[in-house]
Amino acid sequence: MQSLVQIVGVLTVCLTATFNASAQATPEPSELQVQVWAAACMACHGTNGKAEGAGRPLAGQPADTLIKILNFARTGLYTGLIMPQIAKGYSEDELKRIATYFSQIK
Ligand code: HEC
Repeated sequence: MQSLVQIVGVLTVCLTATFNASAQATPEPSELQVQVWAAACMACHGTNGKAEGAGRPLAGQPADTLIKILNFARTGLYTGLIMPQIAKGYSEDELKRIATYFSQIK
């Protein structure tokens, strides 16, 4: 029969492996992943971010400006009916990637 020490030893190794795995940095999102995030914005900001009429276009806006607005929306400095809720659903890094994506659309 295995000793308790051996069992605890095996458990410790397993747990350590699990913690190490979850402590790893999140992998870089793929280009497709960023496009999928951006697609969610297009429902309101137009196909490829080219809103027409009363809509607010995102395409071709400076990335810095978009990043600032989105982070303000995320932290409550930018008040709006919709964007604060949406921006809170993304990390700062994700918003930066989405903003950069739209800024590069001509
Ligand atoms: C459900 C509709 C909707 C979706 C989805 C949406 N937005 Fe918005 N967005 C708005 C509205 C409405 C405003 C005006 C401010 C407000 O009322 O929140 C706005 C404002 C903005 C602004 C400020 C633009 C300006 O000229 O003032 C930015 C930047 C922005 N949105 C980016 C995004 C990004 C990036 C996404 C996707 C992650 C997104 N939005 C998704 C509706 C939406």
